Amino acid sequence: MWSSPRAMPSSWSNLVCLLVAFSYLFTPIPKSRLRRLRLRRRTHLGRPYALHADTISFKDGQLQGTILKSLDDGAESVRLPLTVSFLASGAARERYNEVEKLAIVGGTTLDKEAKVTSQDAHGLVVQYGATQYEAHVKFDPFSVDFKRDGVSQVKFNDKGWLNVEHWRAKVDKPEPEKKEGEENNESAAPPEGDKGVDESTWWDETFGGNTDSKTRGPESVALDITFSGYSHVFGIPSHATSLSLKETRGREEGHYSEPYRMYNLDVFEYILDSPMTLYGSIPLMHAHRKDSTVAVFWLNAAETWVDVTKHKNAANPNALGAHDRTSTSTHWISESGLLDFALGYHQCRWNYVSDDDVKDVNRKMDKAGMPYDVIWLDIEYTEEKKYFTFDKDMFVDPIGMGETLDKEGRKLVTIIDPHIKNTNDYPVVAELKDKDLAVKNKEAKIFDGWCWPGSSHWIDSFNPAAIDWWKSLFKYSSFLGTRENTFVWNDMNEPSVFNGPETTMPKDNLHHGDWEHRDVHNLMGMTFHNATYQALLSRKSGELRRPFVLTRAFYAGSQRFGAMWTGDNQASWEHLGAAVPMILSQGIAGFPFAGADVGGFFGNPDIDLQTRWYQSGAFYPFFRGHAHIDARRREPYLAPEPHKTIIASALRLRYSLLPAWYTAFFHAHRDGSPIVRPMYWTHPSEEAGFAVDDQLFVGSTGLLVKPVVEKDKVTADIYIPDDEVYYDYFTYDTLPTKKAQTLTVDAPLEHIPILMRGGHIFPRRDTPRRSSALQRFDDYTLVISGQYIYRRFALEGDAITSVDAEGRAAKSVRPGAWMKQMKDVAVDKIVIVGAPASWDTKEVEVTSAGKTWTAPVKYVKGKGSKTSFAVVGRVGAAIGEDFTVKVL
Ligand SMILES: *[C@@H]1O[C@H](CO)[C@@H](O)[C@H](O)[C@H]1NC(C)=O
Repeated sequence: MWSSPRAMPSSWSNLVCLLVAFSYLFTPIPKSRLRRLRLRRRTHLGRPYALHADTISFKDGQLQGTILKSLDDGAESVRLPLTVSFLASGAARERYNEVEKLAIVGGTTLDKEAKVTSQDAHGLVVQYGATQYEAHVKFDPFSVDFKRDGVSQVKFNDKGWLNVEHWRAKVDKPEPEKKEGEENNESAAPPEGDKGVDESTWWDETFGGNTDSKTRGPESVALDITFSGYSHVFGIPSHATSLSLKETRGREEGHYSEPYRMYNLDVFEYILDSPMTLYGSIPLMHAHRKDSTVAVFWLNAAETWVDVTKHKNAANPNALGAHDRTSTSTHWISESGLLDFALGYHQCRWNYVSDDDVKDVNRKMDKAGMPYDVIWLDIEYTEEKKYFTFDKDMFVDPIGMGETLDKEGRKLVTIIDPHIKNTNDYPVVAELKDKDLAVKNKEAKIFDGWCWPGSSHWIDSFNPAAIDWWKSLFKYSSFLGTRENTFVWNDMNEPSVFNGPETTMPKDNLHHGDWEHRDVHNLMGMTFHNATYQALLSRKSGELRRPFVLTRAFYAGSQRFGAMWTGDNQASWEHLGAAVPMILSQGIAGFPFAGADVGGFFGNPDIDLQTRWYQSGAFYPFFRGHAHIDARRREPYLAPEPHKTIIASALRLRYSLLPAWYTAFFHAHRDGSPIVRPMYWTHPSEEAGFAVDDQLFVGSTGLLVKPVVEKDKVTADIYIPDDEVYYDYFTYDTLPTKKAQTLTVDAPLEHIPILMRGGHIFPRRDTPRRSSALQRFDDYTLVISGQYIYRRFALEGDAITSVDAEGRAAKSVRPGAWMKQMKDVAVDKIVIVGAPASWDTKEVEVTSAGKTWTAPVKYVKGKGSKTSFAVVGRVGAAIGEDFTVKVL
């Protein structure tokens, strides 16, 4: 539910999807080779890639041609096919293969109107996207400059760092003198002392006792992408870093010395402020400047590294934006080619040890007046880590436990991981082997590795037959002890392999279709998440289900299957601070249903930290408290006073705002907008806000939240992005705000700094309940799949109106069972903060569904910073009907 006469602007203009295109170009980059490839940049020697003019054809929005890669011996060159697709939306992409099928759905219509507007011996120009966009293609060396309205936005291979390792015969060890083809460039570069590279290591690489045999040879792909006139780039989660990405080269303070890495891993105790890889990857980068945003999507599921550097542009009158003459260069290197309950609060720990323990927590949450929706079971609920079983001694009556939860509309989430215990008398592993559905090792035998259960096999979720089998395991008749209110958590799906290289799978493992693991590594978590999602959808035929599946590993596209969280964080103030930028980054990269473990997974938070974490977590799209098995019990009702009351208020605040969260989720589902929004997204013209990443807007509600994440801090400094009026959420005070300035507000422990931006109306439900399910028929509104109520509210002078947000006539909406149930749900109160004097009245007139009646008004006149407000109520108009409330 939403209304905003002043919808926040955003200027999404140009998405460049990059899917570099060569049949054999998947590959991994070990650190030694990464160093070589980064080195290439500085030497500026050799730009061996030229687009051959004779091979170019252009048809139906696609440019095709052959790039010749010359090798240094001069005699030979390697031919690399190139396709650039120009999309109707104004995006252009160079293309590639399989990853696309899994990661992209719809939205890539070719622009048939695109045309070559000029061509000579040196290059050509393609105009596309309703003439606004042009791609200037240079043949030799090959480069592309994407322009909008004549101004350069994104340049590919401007620096000549395009590198596609071509297939070549294996080099055997040792042949120290022999330097082949392209590597001569590198060895000619003296400064870094990169001497004596043993090329044989490019075929067999040993890392931490594991040998990766690259039977298909080294096949990396790399490209430089320059964002002209953009000083900020964002995205490519997941990293524990600032939202605006830092530079990765140079020794200046605040620069990283390594590129951002994307290689899904089970990271133990991750460090903050670092470009190190984490559990999931979305290779989508935004570059943003005043009034313009462009993005690059690097569709490659292999290990990927991205360097970021910024530089001042040479004085160039055409360089748009006199304000912003910094450009950002990035260098990409790849080794090879709606859910209602889910928005409430989740209570988790490793582990709730028995069904009695679960029921005890359930009871105590109620007793403390703490609403929650879901309780979670980590790995210990199983019989010896055999998924799809319950420990019979500890979970005597799992169905009874599920029924107890169901009484208050609550759910249970059980963990199911992709490793299947390799043991006797476990039918699941027997079937996995018999049906030949497991991941293979390089000898094409079932891969065996170690994880929680000890010796394990991994389901190959790239195989459709494996997904069908996985579905069968979730039938109510197979996964005994579970009910309709059981949902699933997929952990360890990077995949985590305790005895594997970097705690993951060997790169030369084999998947369905004979893909090497190196090629598809970053996709594996998503395919497993998908398998579980499909399984929950099909638990019982005819049952309408909205599955909830939490995942730790992810890729672009994972947002279709559920939520993610930022993995194994720590109970420290620094980790509390790191969570908001990480969650914002998820949102702008298209996976907005994100959260961080409240309280911190490892360690014991002191009580102030735990309290502040609940206040912050109440504004994470996914809100779950969790704790490690060695951490003390810390269910929120165990907190001493006054912390217990403060935490209960944070939980209640979340629940009262659930209708606003639903609406934000609904918008995210419709158009991909982030659920929690950073300043550069809501205010794309306000440069001072681009790097601000410790405060957020909740959807389009106009609620601006600045969680306190520092120890003993009792004030908050809030960046104000515009000249709107801002009110304090709790007191309705008008705040002395000024655009682009910082407002300092009091924020003692019991207070969450929340401002209300003028010009918005957001829905709320103020009756305290124990779970979101129990709020369903409380007065006010909500959005539910299939049938939903989606209203647009407006306040114009003396009248408030509510109309269908999509302009549907009331009669055209076929009332299904749910709409019928909602018929008696009404608007109870309307609070008008900053109400004009005309609302200083005793009664207003309400008109709805052909009837007119009066409703009382309480008007409180403001003084000084206290703003005037009016409370109308009870209004009594049905939420699903149009209505008008008018001052008489
Ligand atoms: C998810 O599973 C379905 C059913 O097997 C399959 O068609 C689809 O391609 C899968 N998607 C992903 C992203 O793995």
